[in-house]
Order: sequence, then C-alpha cells, then structure tokens
Amino acid sequence: MNLILLGPPGAGKGTQAKRLQDKYGIAQVSTGDMLRAEVAAGTPIGREAKAVMEAGQLVSDDILVRMLGSRLEKADAAKGVILDGFPRTVPQAEALDRLLAGKGLKLDAVIELKVDDAALVDRISGRYTCAKCGAGYHDTFQKPARPGICDVCGSHEFTRRADDNRATVAARLEAYHRQTAPLLPYYRAKGALQTVDGMADIDEVTRQIDAILAHLG
Ligand code: AP5
Ligand code: MG
Ligand code: ZN
Repeated sequence: MNLILLGPPGAGKGTQAKRLQDKYGIAQVSTGDMLRAEVAAGTPIGREAKAVMEAGQLVSDDILVRMLGSRLEKADAAKGVILDGFPRTVPQAEALDRLLAGKGLKLDAVIELKVDDAALVDRISGRYTCAKCGAGYHDTFQKPARPGICDVCGSHEFTRRADDNRATVAARLEAYHRQTAPLLPYYRAKGALQTVDGMADIDEVTRQIDAILAHLG
C-alpha cells in the first residue's frame, strides 16, 4: 500500500503517519525528517537546505526527487510507504508518478488533512518531540502521561524544531498555499484524492483514515 498524506504544516501528517506505520507495517517517509537529518549531519544537501528550511521555503525539487528516489530503493519501501511531506510541488508529483511506474508500483490513495490556517500556528508553536525516540507531543493537545517523561522510551529530553516559530510558520503556510495546494486538483483529477477533517481530534482523524483504507481493498 502506497499512500500520500497531504496537508499544510501542522496538519498532523507526521502524527498520523507514525500511527499508520505501526498499524500497517509500512514505512513512514518524511522528507522533512530526512532533510533535518542531513542538516544535523552537515552533509552537502544539509548545508544547502538549512537556510531554506529556516526561512520556511521549499528545498529544490531536484534535491527532493533524488532523495526520494534513493529512499524508495531501500528494502523496507517494498512493502509500501506513507509519504509525509512529499510531493510538495507539481513537478515532484510528476516525478513520483515516474518513480512508481518505473518500479511497477501504484499509488493507492492521497489523503488530504484539511485544517484551518488559524489552528496551525497553535499546533506548531506547541509542538515538541522526544530527543531520543522522536515521539511527538504538544503542550496542550498531546501531553505525555507523566509530565516531562516520554511515554514511549522514558527519556527526559525533548527538542523543538528550528522552523517552529511564528514568523517561519507564516512563510511555510504561504509556500503551502502557493506551491503545494495545486496538488489537490492534480490528484482529484486522477480520482485519487480523499479528504479527512484534520480539525477533529487526533484519534478521530485516525478513525477517518482507517475507514478510507478499509475501502481500498
Ligand atoms: P516538514 O517537516 O514536512 O514540515 P511541514 O510540512 O511544515 O509539516 P509539519 O511537520 O510541521 O506538520 P505535520 O503535518 O507533520 O504535523 P504534526 O503531526 O507534527 O518540512 C519541513 C521543511 O522541510 C519544509 O518547510 C521545507 O523547507 C522542507 N521540505 C520537506 N519536504 C519537502 C519537499 N517535498 N519539497 C521541498 N521542501 C521540503 O502535528 C503538529 C502538532 O499538532 C503536533 O504537536 C501534534 O501533537 C499536534 N496535532 C496533530 N494532530 C492534531 C489534531 N488532530 N488535533 C490537535 N493537535 C494535533
Ligand atoms: Mg511533520
Ligand atoms: Zn522517547
């Protein structure tokens, strides 16, 4: 099963992708996480991407398409992938079509998480993750059961993303509406687009996605 989760920054793509990965045994492929790993490792891609990401803009299609192409070569991708943050432009979507076709794979669904812009700033400014295992949390919407202790691994260390500040969020939203939203009609025209109410609480969004996947057959 190959899925795309599509939605603006803070829509819940990463939150839902992690749940789908655990439940269906297919790999979450988050291009944002991959780029942050390149930045942290100081690779040539990371050095090129750092300033672009901190400005809330999109990294070049060329870099992303190459990165995704090599990610899809890895063994775990054969069972299926949940694309979280890719494609983000029409040229990326066209490249994905070619990559999948070249492997004899098909796209099963494109799931749009629809969320009002106003809610996104609150979601993003309250977000943090476990520094050790990457589990995601939120100051208000998704607190660990015991304050300051990761539910998954027990770590006491958490991190916040460099691009999760109000000014950068505005630029990321602008980039979404200008460069990524055209993918909605692109996939609607192919009959692949399904929309869920991303304003609902996290468990309800998961239920809506499960219902879509149950009908794929
Ligand atoms: P990326 O890492 O993909 O960031 P993004 O798209 O801005 O999305 P986020 O990760 O911020 O949001 P999310 O939808 O995953 O939300 P989450 O589940 O965490 O990309 C970062 C940057 O990398 C880009 O700006 C760009 O520069 C570059 N990049 C990446 N891919 C690229 C590409 N293909 N092309 C070019 N450049 C690329 O949820 C957010 C918070 O809300 C969490 O705290 C969560 O607990 C909470 N929450 C989640 N769901 C709910 C809910 N239903 N109700 C209440 N709270 C919720
Ligand atoms: Mg994310
Ligand atoms: Zn943890």
